[in-house]
Amino acid sequence: MTDIRTLGEFIVEKQSDFPHASGELSSLLGSIKLAAKIVNREINKAGLADITGSVGAENIQGEEQQKLDLYANDKFKAALEARDQVCGIASEEEDLAVSFKRQLNRDAKYVVLMDPLDGSSNIDVNVSVGTIFSIYRRISPVGSPAIDADFLQPGHRQVAAGYVIYGSSTMLVYTTGNGVHGFTYDPSLGVFCLSHENMQIPVNGNIYSINEGNYIRFPLGVKKYIKYCQEYVPQDNRPYTSRYIGSLVADFHRNLLKGGIYLYPSTANYPNGKLRLLYECNPMALLIEQAGGRATDGQQRILDLVPTELHQRVPFFVGSTNMVNKVEAFLHEID
Ligand code: AHG
Ligand code: MN
Ligand code: MN
Ligand code: MN
Repeated sequence: MTDIRTLGEFIVEKQSDFPHASGELSSLLGSIKLAAKIVNREINKAGLADITGSVGAENIQGEEQQKLDLYANDKFKAALEARDQVCGIASEEEDLAVSFKRQLNRDAKYVVLMDPLDGSSNIDVNVSVGTIFSIYRRISPVGSPAIDADFLQPGHRQVAAGYVIYGSSTMLVYTTGNGVHGFTYDPSLGVFCLSHENMQIPVNGNIYSINEGNYIRFPLGVKKYIKYCQEYVPQDNRPYTSRYIGSLVADFHRNLLKGGIYLYPSTANYPNGKLRLLYECNPMALLIEQAGGRATDGQQRILDLVPTELHQRVPFFVGSTNMVNKVEAFLHEID
């Protein structure tokens, strides 16, 4: 029992590692931890209470909003607004960026971008879902309202990023640019306990994760890569295993632990890919690089892309370095 380290203790211990050492980022991560516990409690009883299903409205991206999308959005937003470290948020479920009104918030240094509930179409069938978050230092002056430019920074400027996976156990995984650390929630204690220190993704993997139903309109390079994954080459561990949950957080988490690649290329329905650069791709890209892997849109490093719009989508290839290199080679060969 003596060597249990809670997330709160760990953050304080690592505080001096932060590029902008201060207790503020620790406190900000504390807000995320609190909201994650509240959302976790709700998701755990989703089948019992009247909290599953759609609200009958769409978000700005044309997706049907689930009750739990809005619940998670409200809880994370409220937790971040209640403390004094964040001046504003942007979210998959909000049309526009939100600048908090209180002067104490306006005096804060950070903005948070989030996908409050990832994989929300899985909630009604009791499959893992998640929350993804991304933290930047604002570029507008402290004391003033947050502005769009604070949210449209390239991913390499993130000061921290992470996700919560509400799975068979609930975990919080984050990075502040000094490695990736994972904490498992112990519901009886109500605390996240360090369970995965310094996570590293294997350089080679044998899992590929893609919605193959969209195959017909995939770029030729992606089609060729899928064939490559399926070829019988035992000395190369091929054929690889196909695994696709349909919750980015859950697919990413499995591949991070076991080695693998996640692909969401352009498709007929989503010519720029489906995943959102600011709420999904950037935070996952920072995590994967910190874990020794790679993330690209097929042409460029995700973290170097300069966002132009809040809800921008990009093709996304993320995972074990050698697997991402391989799909990239196929994509370049074709172009
Ligand atoms: P969200 O639930 O936040 O809108 O995200 C859904 C995303 C992502 O979680 C998942 O990997 C992907 O959509 C699945 O898309 P398909 O159903 O098109 O495969
Ligand atoms: Mn959605
Ligand atoms: Mn999502
Ligand atoms: Mn979502």
